[in-house]
Amino acid sequence: MTMENQRIVLASRPEGWVTLENFRLEKIALPRLQDGGVLVKNLWLSLDPYMRGRMNEGKSYAAKQEIGEVMIGGTVGEVVESRHPKFAKGDKVLGMLGWQQYGISDGKGLNKVDASRVPLSAYLGVLGMPGVTAWVGLLDICQPKAGETVLVSAASGAVGSAVGQIAKLKGCRAVGIAGGKAKCDYVVDELGFDACVDYKAGRLNDDLKAALPDGVDCYFENVGGEILDAVLRRMNAFSRIAVCGLISQYNATEPYGVKTLQSILTNRIRMQGFIVSDRMELWPKALPELVGWVASGRIKYRETIAQGLQNAPKAFIGLLKGENLGKQLVKL
Ligand SMILES: NC(=O)c1ccc[n+]([C@@H]2O[C@H](COP(=O)([O-])OP(=O)(O)OC[C@H]3O[C@@H](n4cnc5c(N)ncnc54)[C@H](OP(=O)(O)O)[C@@H]3O)[C@@H](O)[C@H]2O)c1
Repeated sequence: MTMENQRIVLASRPEGWVTLENFRLEKIALPRLQDGGVLVKNLWLSLDPYMRGRMNEGKSYAAKQEIGEVMIGGTVGEVVESRHPKFAKGDKVLGMLGWQQYGISDGKGLNKVDASRVPLSAYLGVLGMPGVTAWVGLLDICQPKAGETVLVSAASGAVGSAVGQIAKLKGCRAVGIAGGKAKCDYVVDELGFDACVDYKAGRLNDDLKAALPDGVDCYFENVGGEILDAVLRRMNAFSRIAVCGLISQYNATEPYGVKTLQSILTNRIRMQGFIVSDRMELWPKALPELVGWVASGRIKYRETIAQGLQNAPKAFIGLLKGENLGKQLVKL
């Protein structure tokens, strides 16, 4: 019997903001599984800001994806048929099988995960790429010492929420920047940050100054633009900035020109960009620590869940506009 697969492909490249018209839902017959193949029913799809860069024609830090191709994306799911010696029916697996209900893999990049201790969806968030990104950027690049102040933007999101909580575990003062009072309340009241600045309140410079009486020793940058400009004014001598993301720029047609670069010289700031996939050697160190912190309740996380593949484009646009709280997922 032929099985049907539903998938979302890139229909056109966005100019500026992504629109629903940039995506197309297709229904196709699943090909018969070849020797060495694994058929996976995807249960959860991860939506991540990097996908925006891949939709562009030009080079981002990740290769562009072609028009008509299935949208790239991390997935967790269950093996429904296997002709591969390392995978069996029923295995729960993490992979990059994209925006589709079923994926066929040759086993490369497909990893079995244990869903008995933590929910399967966590492997796409706090115990997956975003969680390890937080660990690498904070602990390997910023290297905060106890007593120092760590500031993180997009603080209520998948990466930012982990950054502030890890900073607290390391004895630092953790301050977040997030859009809106509800997100800031969540960051302070539930995640235990010491303070959070609502950048949408219209007093960014004054509010940062008030929340950062001792300045900033480590800044974990997720957004760029005006926020970076304002933060550079608050950096301490010999402070560090880990440039993880610049989401405020991903849909911009004109790049924002930062005006306060002089702070880098005056304060002898070390600023370093990083891509988590360049640091695969750190995953075996980061992941057990994250699992331990999550299992013991010392790192908390939230998920925003869209229902059904057909709602993935809308949820993705929502993620880029800040409609998510915590990790944005699609339940397939
Ligand atoms: N370098 C790497 O290897 C790597 C890996 C993973 C992620 N990243 C980057 O890390 C950042 C966070 O990713 P994530 O997966 O954790 O996403 P996320 O924080 O869960 O979601 C994105 C958030 O960005 C904020 N945002 C959107 N537009 C903004 C703007 N114009 N100004 C300020 N904030 C804005 C929104 O929060 P507010 O409502 O608070 O504005 C939104 O909720 C992104 O920049 C991403 O590209 C980098």
